[in-house]
Parts: sequence; C-alpha cells; structure tokens
Amino acid sequence: MIIVIDGPAGSGKSSTAKAVARKTGYDYVDSGAIYRALAYLYNTLGKDQRSLLEKLEDHQLHFDFNHTDVRVRHMDTDITEAIRSMPVNQSVSEVAAMPEVREVVRKLLRDITQGKNAVLDGRDLGTVVFPDADLKIFLTADLETRAARRFEELSGQPFEGSLEEIKTNLQKRDTLDSQREVAPLRKADDAMIVDSTHLSFDEQVARILNYIRT
Ligand code: C5P
Repeated sequence: MIIVIDGPAGSGKSSTAKAVARKTGYDYVDSGAIYRALAYLYNTLGKDQRSLLEKLEDHQLHFDFNHTDVRVRHMDTDITEAIRSMPVNQSVSEVAAMPEVREVVRKLLRDITQGKNAVLDGRDLGTVVFPDADLKIFLTADLETRAARRFEELSGQPFEGSLEEIKTNLQKRDTLDSQREVAPLRKADDAMIVDSTHLSFDEQVARILNYIRT
C-alpha cells in the first residue's frame, strides 16, 4: 500500500506523514530530503548544474531511510542537519526544477518503496511518481499559518531566519514549485484535500487515518 501526501512547503506534510507511518506501521519516506541532499551537493559545487549532473552518477550521496526518519551522508560526512539549512532552502527549488534530477529521484523513490507499505510526502507524488498510489492526500494551509508553524518548529535550533524570512522563503518556493515546467506542485485529480489551517495536528492525522480505513 502506497500513501502519498503532497502539498506546499511548510504545510506539515513530513510530521503528518511520520505520524501516519507510526500509527500504521508503514515506512516513512521523505522525498524532499532527496532534493535537499542534491541541493546541498549543488551548493558545494558552486551551483554548477553540469557538475551536479555528473556527480549524480558517482553515488556520493547515501540515504538511510529507517522506519520514521532518514539519515543522509555526502561521502563520509553526515549532512542530515545541513540539508535543512537556509542555503539549501534557497537553492532546493532550483535543483528540483531540473528534469534530469527529477527523473533520478522518481526512479529512486519507486525502487526504495518496491513491494513495501509506505507513506511518502512531496510535491508531485500523486501526479507523477505514484499515479497509481492507493491513497492521495493534498495537505495545505494558508501561508501565515504555515510560516508561524515553521518558525515555532525551528525555535531553539541554530537557525538564521526570522518569521518574515521564513514566510518569504515558503512563498518563493511555492511559486517556483508550482510554476516549473516539469512535475509542478499540483493536486492530483483523485487526491483528497486536507486543509489544516483550522485543524490541530492530531485532527489532521486523524482525517488521513480515516481515509485509510474507509
Ligand atoms: O518537502 P520539503 O520542503 O523538504 O522539500 C524541499 C523542496 O524539494 C521543495 O521546495 C521542492 O522544491 C522539492 N520537492 C519536489 N518534489 C518533491 C519533494 C520536494 O520538487 N516530491
């Protein structure tokens, strides 16, 4: 069984997907982490697209997806935390718009979930990567709510952004992700919309679990 949760940045997809995975015993796969790792690599290569595409062949990135999390390595360096940093936030949508990159990630996601029960979160999972998913959710919330939640989540962490910066980054990523030519952020026709603006976290998880049961 494959459950996909797509939606804009900061809509709570990953925490929701993790909670759904815990409740169902399914594996959790964070597809954004793969794009983030590629963006990290892109930044270390001086933002050179050709070098990035060459390095994709070299298997320099390693993803260790366990039940509810992913650890990411670039050669011998653990970059699990670094892929959440502002420099990565700022270049990830540019990297995710490269068609060659999307094809590599699409294949990787299909491979790692082959024959498994999994919950995945992303942008194009219901439309492009898993058009055959058993359940498709489009999780959304208004921009103010998403920025405030992200700000709270990051408070106390070594982080260089203000609420305003977070809001600007979310908005910019949504625009880039929705307007790119290849696999834009879009609700699949057969996806169920969950708008969490006025829902508590537990309520949004419960709605999705309800869809799984029915
Ligand atoms: O989900 P997260 O915010 O970590 O994703 C980071 C970025 O990766 C998104 O802004 C988007 O550009 C890209 N992404 C994507 N398709 C996915 C998952 C993420 O384009 N399936």
